[in-house]
Amino acid sequence: MLLLTALLFPGLLSTASVIRHEDHSHTTAERLPSTWYHDSDHPVNALFKRAPTTDGITYAEVGSPAWSAAYPESTPDSSAMPAEWLAALNAAVAAGTIPDIPPSTNVPNENPTYPSGYDPNGAVCSATYKCKTPGTIWDAPDDYIGIGFDDGPQPATDALLAFLQDNEQSATHFMIGVNIISYPNEFQAAFDMGHAVCVHTYTHPYMTTLSNEDVVAQLGWTAELIHNSTGGRVPKFWRPPFGDTDIRVTAIAKEVFGLTTIIWNQDTEDWSLTTGGTTAQAINTSMTEWLTGPKSPGLIILEHELSNQSVAAFMAAYPVMKANNWNTTSVALIVQGTTAYQNAASGLDAVTPMGILASNSSSTGSLSVCGSSVAPHSTATKSGQTGSSTGSATTSAPSTSTTPNSALSTSWTAGSAALLCLVASFMLHA
Ligand SMILES: *[C@@H]1O[C@H](CO)[C@@H](O)[C@H](O)[C@H]1NC(C)=O
Ligand SMILES: *[C@@H]1O[C@H](CO)[C@@H](O)[C@H](O)[C@H]1NC(C)=O
Ligand SMILES: *[C@@H]1O[C@H](CO)[C@@H](O)[C@H](O)[C@H]1NC(C)=O
Ligand SMILES: *[C@@H]1O[C@H](CO)[C@@H](O)[C@H](O)[C@H]1NC(C)=O
Ligand SMILES: *[C@@H]1O[C@H](CO)[C@@H](O)[C@H](O)[C@H]1NC(C)=O
Ligand SMILES: [Zn+2]
Repeated sequence: MLLLTALLFPGLLSTASVIRHEDHSHTTAERLPSTWYHDSDHPVNALFKRAPTTDGITYAEVGSPAWSAAYPESTPDSSAMPAEWLAALNAAVAAGTIPDIPPSTNVPNENPTYPSGYDPNGAVCSATYKCKTPGTIWDAPDDYIGIGFDDGPQPATDALLAFLQDNEQSATHFMIGVNIISYPNEFQAAFDMGHAVCVHTYTHPYMTTLSNEDVVAQLGWTAELIHNSTGGRVPKFWRPPFGDTDIRVTAIAKEVFGLTTIIWNQDTEDWSLTTGGTTAQAINTSMTEWLTGPKSPGLIILEHELSNQSVAAFMAAYPVMKANNWNTTSVALIVQGTTAYQNAASGLDAVTPMGILASNSSSTGSLSVCGSSVAPHSTATKSGQTGSSTGSATTSAPSTSTTPNSALSTSWTAGSAALLCLVASFMLHA
């Protein structure tokens, strides 16, 4: 009710600090009457986005039993995924667009390793080892900070959304499928406010350890969940958990689902604030250095909406971003321009009906359109600012930095999907 009240009475915004959605239901199929909202040039639209039009299909109400029942409860079984996804993968493999690289092996707290003969900084081009596959996004354009948060939705999402709203700041949320199922209200609130919803996989695995089919299932179920919960929007971007992708996984995301990979060039390690890892003071020190430092390339800082502490670290840094005259823009919009979706001209515009299979679409959101319209301006030709990222990537060859991400020594606890983010928080780059 608070959100609705604020929508109708924007003057109350200054007193609205936390958004609660428990007291009203949501549906992507049947919204309020079509004339309830202000015209798009009304100032309130800077704060709250008008509920976007859909592709006309009636979808199960977000948060309803029928909605959640249609999706896997935890790690998706690739032998039971839709046949179209497997067909699209097989077609891409047959077309030679998926490099034949074996899956990596994951030892907890260490970087994934590959069989001998497969060089992570060579043909494999592992992002964990800071190798930059052409077409992946690591940097923002000069003077920009790409605002984005991983691992939502979560309870901490509420406070983050309230802060973003108070500051008229939109952001990209790289969401985990099972978390969307667990926190539908936070998901709906982020989408309703006009934030970009992108893919952070279904259960947050090290993606390079998976078979081609399991990669497809992780990406496909998350994309389908977002698609069917946003009136038919097909996300344009994904971020690999732990930043772990390679040339094979990156190609599957692109060729099968039209997803472009966004990584980062600075890491707060804010995921470890609640587990005895980093501290608010350490993040303050890092942030101060980055935000008062050179503006070329621009910053894509890895941050999380995992906990109140990680959200607080962003809130503390945000005024410093502004004070140093950075252009803070939702990272998906920096990369592409106006939309985080493959089948809408902007986050607010009408949706062109389109299935999640980019390579099997007859709409304008086809893979070729997606590929050519994604112009990672200023990104692929610059080296990151990260201390360990000394490679100078170009668009024609992978970088050759030999310094892998530093691994932190904490204990690994296997967990169920419900414990996923707890587990993730013990890991490198949650
Ligand atoms: C998602 O929506 C499509 C229609 O766009 C429908 O065919 C499909 O069954 C839905 N998927 C789930 C898991 O509900
Ligand atoms: C593409 O979609 C059509 C119609 O939905 C379907 O018959 C066909 O099998 C799909 N092809 C692939 C490669 O998924
Ligand atoms: C996070 O902050 C909110 C208020 O912003 C509070 O209600 C909630 O209890 C906090 N959660 C934790 C785990 O401290
Ligand atoms: C760091 O902390 C100081 C003291 O609280 C504060 O003034 C400053 O804005 C903080 N900077 C960042 C980047 O969080
Ligand atoms: C930030 O960049 C966006 C997109 O280029 C632009 O529309 C906006 O005016 C810029 N904001 C500022 C404060 O420069
Ligand atoms: Zn994550």
